[in-house]
Amino acid sequence: MVNLETTFAGLRLKNPLIAGSSGLTNSIKSIKELENAGIGAIVLKSLFEEQIENHSERLSRIADYPEAADYINTYIEMNHMDKYLDLIRSAGEECDVPIIASINCYKLNRWVEFAKTIQDAGADAIELNVFVLNAGEFEDTYLENFYVNTVKELKKIIRIPVVIKMSKNISNLPGLAGRLKALGAGGVVLFNRFYQLDIDIKNQEITSGPVFSNLSDFSETLRWTAIVSGRVPGFDIACSYGIHSWEDAIKGILAGAGAIQLCSLLYEQGPGAIENILTCMEEWMLQSNYERINDFKGKLNFANIKSPALYERVQFMKYFSNYK
Ligand SMILES: Cc1cc2nc3c(=O)[nH]c(=O)nc-3n(C[C@H](O)[C@H](O)[C@H](O)COP(=O)(O)O)c2cc1C
Repeated sequence: MVNLETTFAGLRLKNPLIAGSSGLTNSIKSIKELENAGIGAIVLKSLFEEQIENHSERLSRIADYPEAADYINTYIEMNHMDKYLDLIRSAGEECDVPIIASINCYKLNRWVEFAKTIQDAGADAIELNVFVLNAGEFEDTYLENFYVNTVKELKKIIRIPVVIKMSKNISNLPGLAGRLKALGAGGVVLFNRFYQLDIDIKNQEITSGPVFSNLSDFSETLRWTAIVSGRVPGFDIACSYGIHSWEDAIKGILAGAGAIQLCSLLYEQGPGAIENILTCMEEWMLQSNYERINDFKGKLNFANIKSPALYERVQFMKYFSNYK
């Protein structure tokens, strides 16, 4: 008998599949669809700190009186937040799977206090989508320090697990993951995918790039899952970015992930893909004589394979010099 139960960031999941934060996790209707399809947990669409601030700034320019601007700013902020809190409450009441709230933030300000309200509304955990693009304005370690300070501040305020959705742009990912674990973070999501841009050469302007990830994106996710899992034992990892099949889900767990976040796949194939992945995972486990996720979780991580250097192989030159 195969059992798909797993844990991530202190949460018990009936299976490792988590719906990643997106427009698919923004309403009770679509959340219920994901739950009915068998998903193990749901990360709600992020509340964007930037979005709230931009709206506020734009409207304060329109307002004639500073008092009016203050009123409008507060109203908009509360309106966004109230709607988000309603979503958390309804999701908690109507769903049996863990509900993870998400905040997209880039500086330490009022949202930190708001995290407590999110906890009180019933969120089972909070995922932080933290990123500052360093286009040369900040010191080298700005982003790393920001992650660390964010976890420190949140741990003073809330008791639900804090999960960090990491950027790939970190110079020493295992080192940072170790610091976050020591500070009490519940786990990391490897990785966040940012808005992609492109250049339209006909009109010579910046346009948006592909919205969804593709199959080749998974390789980096896999490499870093295996390295962080081996280097920071006992720290929970959710694999994300580029998971497009049940085989990818198995690979992520072999590399050391306890949970697997899906997003592009759910957009492209709909919630029906969840049942298919779970069935195939169960069949693979049966054939491989594994009863539980823990029986093979991390079996091929950086610490458990004979040649960990395989995960460090990055240069093509030696291996594919005769490739045609
Ligand atoms: C349409 C869309 C909306 C998204 N919105 C959010 C969001 O609000 N917050 C967030 O943290 N990630 C957001 N993401 C990123 C996904 O949660 C996920 O990290 C990313 O798509 C990589 O996973 P995938 O390869 O399975 O798509 C969004 C992705 C898509 C495609």
